[in-house]
Amino acid sequence: MAKSINFVFLILALLAFAPLCLCHVNTFGGYLYPQFYDRSCPQAQQIVNSVVSKAVAREARMAASLVRLHFHDCFVKGCDASILLDSASGIISEKGSKPNKNSIRGLEVIDEIKSELEKQCPHTVSCADIMALAARDSTVLAGGPSWVVPLGRRDSKGASLSGSNNNIPAPNNTFQTILTKFKLQGLDIVDLVALSGSHTIGNARCVSFRQRLYNQSGNSKPDPTLDQSYAATLRTRCPKFGGDQNLSFLDLVSPTKFDNSYFKNLLSFKGLLSSDQILVTKNQVSFELVKKYAESNEVFFEQFAKSMVKMGNISPLTGFKGEIRSNCRKINA
Ligand code: HEM
Ligand SMILES: *[C@@H]1O[C@H](CO)[C@@H](O)[C@H](O)[C@H]1NC(C)=O
Ligand SMILES: *[C@@H]1O[C@H](CO)[C@@H](O)[C@H](O)[C@H]1NC(C)=O
Ligand SMILES: *[C@@H]1O[C@H](CO)[C@@H](O)[C@H](O)[C@H]1NC(C)=O
Repeated sequence: MAKSINFVFLILALLAFAPLCLCHVNTFGGYLYPQFYDRSCPQAQQIVNSVVSKAVAREARMAASLVRLHFHDCFVKGCDASILLDSASGIISEKGSKPNKNSIRGLEVIDEIKSELEKQCPHTVSCADIMALAARDSTVLAGGPSWVVPLGRRDSKGASLSGSNNNIPAPNNTFQTILTKFKLQGLDIVDLVALSGSHTIGNARCVSFRQRLYNQSGNSKPDPTLDQSYAATLRTRCPKFGGDQNLSFLDLVSPTKFDNSYFKNLLSFKGLLSSDQILVTKNQVSFELVKKYAESNEVFFEQFAKSMVKMGNISPLTGFKGEIRSNCRKINA
C-alpha cells in the first residue's frame, strides 16, 4: 500500500516537473563553454579579433563602445543580442531606449564581424557571442585584462524596449537603485564596483552629467561631491543650455587606457557621472572596494575579468532556444 502511494506520488512528481525541465534546456547541458566553436568555426575568435583590432586602431574610443554594447545587451533579457535588432513587425528596437538613443555605438563593427563570419562559417556564430568576444578583445586592446570567453549563446527573436529603459541603470540613479538593478541580474556589489571600472575608457555626453554641474539637488548648486575645479572645466564644454551631445572623457587622466585610474579619480572626487562618484560617497562596502582597486591594478584586473564572465552568463539562450541570426539587425525569415 505504502509502495503504491509512493509510486503514484512519483508519477505525479514527474508529470509536474517534466514540462519545467523540457522548457529549461539550460538544465541539460545548456551551459556556455569556451570551445563551443572549436569544430564548427575554429577561426571564429581570430575573425572577431581582426575586425575589432582594425576598428580600435581607427578610433580608440571604439573599444569602450563595444564593451558597453555587451553590457546593454546582457541587462535586457540576457546576453541574447536583443539590442542589435532594428524595429520591424512585432519588434520595437531597444536602440530607441533612454540609455541607448544617441549613445550606443559600434553597431557597424558588429555588422562587419558578422558578415565576415557568415562568409567563412555560415549560420554558425551568434551575434550575442560576437559581442561577448568583441568586449573581451576591446578590453585587451585598451590595455586591460584578458579572459577566456564562455560561448554558445544564441540570438533572440525579440527585443524589449521597456527592459532596456528599466533594467539599465541611469547615471543619476541612487546607489540603492543601481545596486538593485545589478542584483536583479544576479550581480553583486563586487561586480558593480569592478564593472563600473570600465568607465576608465570612453566618453559621456553633456546630458549624462549636466545635472551635477548646475543643479544637482534642485537647489541650483553643483554636486558638492564633485571637485570644483574639475566641475569648472567640465562646464566649459557642457553649458547649462545647449551642447547636449558634447563629449567628455569618463577618465580624465588616461581616457583611452584601460587601467585603475578611474578608481583613483573617484578618491579625489573626479568621477564624471554621479553613478561613478556615489561608489565612494554613499556606501562603505563599495568605498572599500574602490580603495582596493585604486591601490592595485592587478587586483582590479582580476576581478574585472571575473565579473565580465559573470555578466556574460546572464540568461543566455542555448540549445534549441533562439536562433543564429544571419544579419544581426533582424531575425531570420
Ligand atoms: C553602474 C551603472 C552604470 C551607469 C549608470 C552607466 C552609465 C553610463 C553613461 C551615462 C555613459 C555615457 C553615455 C552617453 O553619454 O552617451 C556610459 C558610458 C560607458 N559605460 Fe557605463 N554605466 C554603468 C555601468 C557600466 C558597465 C557595467 C559597463 C561595462 C561593463 C559600462 C561601460 C561603459 C563604457 C565603456 C562607456 C563609454 C562608451 C563610449 O565611449 O562609447 N558601464 N555609462
Ligand atoms: C534624472 O535624469 C533624468 C533625465 O535627465 C531626469 O528626467 C530625472 O528627473 C532625473 N532624476 C533625478 C532624481 O534627478
Ligand atoms: C533646479 O531644479 C529644481 C527642481 O528640479 C527646479 O525647480 C529649479 O528651477 C532648478 N533651478 C535652475 C536654476 O534651473
Ligand atoms: C561643444 O564643444 C566644443 C569643443 O569641442 C565647443 O567649441 C562648443 O562650444 C561646445 N558646445 C557648447 C554648446 O558649449
